[in-house]
Amino acid sequence: MNQQLVDNFGRQISYLRLAITDRCNLRCQYCMPAHGIDIVDREELLTYKEMYRITRVLSELGVNKVRLTGGEPFVRKGFMSFLEMLDFNDLLDEINITTNGVLISKHLEQIEKLKVKSINLSLDSLNREKFKTITRRDQFEKTYKALGLLEKSKLNLKLNVVVQSGINTNEIIDFVELTKTRNIAVRFIEEMPFNGVGQKQTNEVWNYNKILSEINREFPNTEKLKDKKSSTSMNFKVENYKGTFGIIPAFTRTICSDCNRIRITATGMFKNCLFDDGVFNIRQFMRNGASNDELKELFLKLVAKKPKDGFLAEANRDSDVTESMSTIGG
Ligand code: 5AD
Ligand code: SF4
Repeated sequence: MNQQLVDNFGRQISYLRLAITDRCNLRCQYCMPAHGIDIVDREELLTYKEMYRITRVLSELGVNKVRLTGGEPFVRKGFMSFLEMLDFNDLLDEINITTNGVLISKHLEQIEKLKVKSINLSLDSLNREKFKTITRRDQFEKTYKALGLLEKSKLNLKLNVVVQSGINTNEIIDFVELTKTRNIAVRFIEEMPFNGVGQKQTNEVWNYNKILSEINREFPNTEKLKDKKSSTSMNFKVENYKGTFGIIPAFTRTICSDCNRIRITATGMFKNCLFDDGVFNIRQFMRNGASNDELKELFLKLVAKKPKDGFLAEANRDSDVTESMSTIGG
């Protein structure tokens, strides 16, 4: 039996979230300050070969699912070739991508030929002006077009909506209404302080419970769906609606007990939890000449120390949560 990645709480790690780049063509307020983040030097980004190698080694330790995130994966040159390369890894069952959709449309046909199963499209408003305010870029049309094309494709589509107090909470119902006739899975995400600055002051906290009661007020006829193991969202459906909606308690962190995920940031920092501050520099380790066996041993050791939940991970940090989601990988 091959060695598997299991932590001290018996959780088996089977899912890698890999950030392709820290760059992005949008500037979402909850992710970055207006001037952007200080992007890292190119040499500090993992090369595609390094990403392939990390993924291969992890897949030999039981990781069978990879999510490619960013920043925006499609802004990095050569991303489509990397996808094709990753598709060769026979130990991977599923490749998923999180994207803002601005650049995806022309690649969809090619993506459908690969073992890409699901696309998470970030779209926080159905209103062009609002979209522009949130993302600080006028690209609504491109993302909305991508939404239409993805719906028609054979890929699974999830729509990520970060619920932002005072900004798009008045659209929660509209997003649920989208699922009436369209086979879309909307995911409302609690906003986290990963915006390059830190925790915002708000008078209203839109957490899981508040989002759900807002929806239930309008739609008393919602049914709870059975969630897949290690799902990050609690999922629901309005009776007789075609699509579904879910809520991701990203900030209240009630889903840690069956977490199966690890992360590698764009610069090759290993993270056991979204809320830790990066526990090991894999890039340096590889560039210092580590063998695949050494990498495996390292991953086994790192995973063993995965903190019990996101609160403990946060408590173990040396600094407060201020980094941008685009460096971490969403
Ligand atoms: N809070 C919650 N979700 C965030 N994302 C980015 N920043 C934040 C944040 N501060 C999500 C986006 C996108 C994915 C990359 O991460 O919705 O879907
Ligand atoms: Fe870009 Fe995503 Fe961050 Fe928005 S949330 S700026 S789309 S990386």
